[in-house]
Amino acid sequence: MRTLLVGGGAGFIGSNFVRWMLSKYPDLKIVNVDKLTYAGNLDNVADLPSERHTFVRADIADAVAMHEVIETHRPDAIVNFAAETHVDRSIHGGLGDFVLANVMGPQVLAEATKKFAIPLYIQISTDEVFGALGLDEARLFHEETAFAPNMPYAACKAGGDLICRSYFQTFGTPIIVTHCSNNYGPYQFPEKFIPQAISKTLAGEAIPIYGDGLYVRDWIHVDDHCSAIDLLLQRGAAGEVYNIGADNERSNVEVVEMLLEILGKPHHPRVTVQDRPGHDRRYGIDASKMKAMGWEPKYPREKFIDGLRAKIQWYADNAAWVEKLKARGAEFNSHIKV
Ligand SMILES: NC(=O)c1ccc[n+]([C@@H]2O[C@H](COP(=O)([O-])OP(=O)(O)OC[C@H]3O[C@@H](n4cnc5c(N)ncnc54)[C@H](O)[C@@H]3O)[C@@H](O)[C@H]2O)c1
Repeated sequence: MRTLLVGGGAGFIGSNFVRWMLSKYPDLKIVNVDKLTYAGNLDNVADLPSERHTFVRADIADAVAMHEVIETHRPDAIVNFAAETHVDRSIHGGLGDFVLANVMGPQVLAEATKKFAIPLYIQISTDEVFGALGLDEARLFHEETAFAPNMPYAACKAGGDLICRSYFQTFGTPIIVTHCSNNYGPYQFPEKFIPQAISKTLAGEAIPIYGDGLYVRDWIHVDDHCSAIDLLLQRGAAGEVYNIGADNERSNVEVVEMLLEILGKPHHPRVTVQDRPGHDRRYGIDASKMKAMGWEPKYPREKFIDGLRAKIQWYADNAAWVEKLKARGAEFNSHIKV
């Protein structure tokens, strides 16, 4: 593969993936298409080599713009991370943006994949499309689990996934859809749960926790998500769906306690905030299909504490990155994604 088109490569996971691929494949060129919404940040990719990294500001739902980019660069594959991602924003307004980015966007990319005969398009989706598991349920989400999204963000992601499925079924367009669990790692926008908890603790402010704090998420380090997509680019089968997770279910309270232990502030105050409507109790991914292909997370459950430690260190080493986002009005306070 010589040229890869990445959608949403100025966001959290997308920028980590661009960095991962450029450092691993010295001959690879990446065309990074991002609309630069509030969540997109060119600082995330500012240090990448310009001769191998071309940034294009465009909306993936804009068919004319996307066809032009694809015709110009003729990528060997597309990996799309671009999406509106913040659950609370999808509940409290602006749902139209979610439909455009998360449903129309994948349709435009699927159509372009078909039209320009791109060999592979990987659509990055989320475990939230499967709905919720009960705390005591033995079941996990596997690739055949029926979609049952409970909030508008997840419903839009499910819509995009189904468009991708239909392009493969109807036209044979080579598309893979992935469902990953909650990511943590460098460059994560500060409105999300773990960076917000770190930031609040360091600022001496109480950590906000939804409801009883017993919401369970299956945490994966962003590098492990990137290595899974890297493997799928090489060995994934078109038309297939792959679940990605690191067998690392933790309640929010447990994650906060681990963070506080690392930060040496075990008694730091927490504050209960009003619960989110439609809040899913628990997510849990069965990643055995990926593991059967030889993929293994670098940060499995027993190394979560190391991953958190590395993340805290990254925030300490990149205080200027955080401060610049704060100056831009990034919401450290009013929203939390878990
Ligand atoms: N963060 C997680 O824990 C997680 C877990 C599983 C799956 N995912 C999926 O991974 C993808 C990336 O998530 P993230 O956390 O990095 O999100 P993010 O919000 O940090 O980044 C999203 C990026 O997409 C860009 N974007 C938004 N709408 C766009 C559009 N219409 N056209 C072009 N660019 C647009 C934004 O500017 C931003 O750079 C999403 O599709 C999300 O559903 C995320």
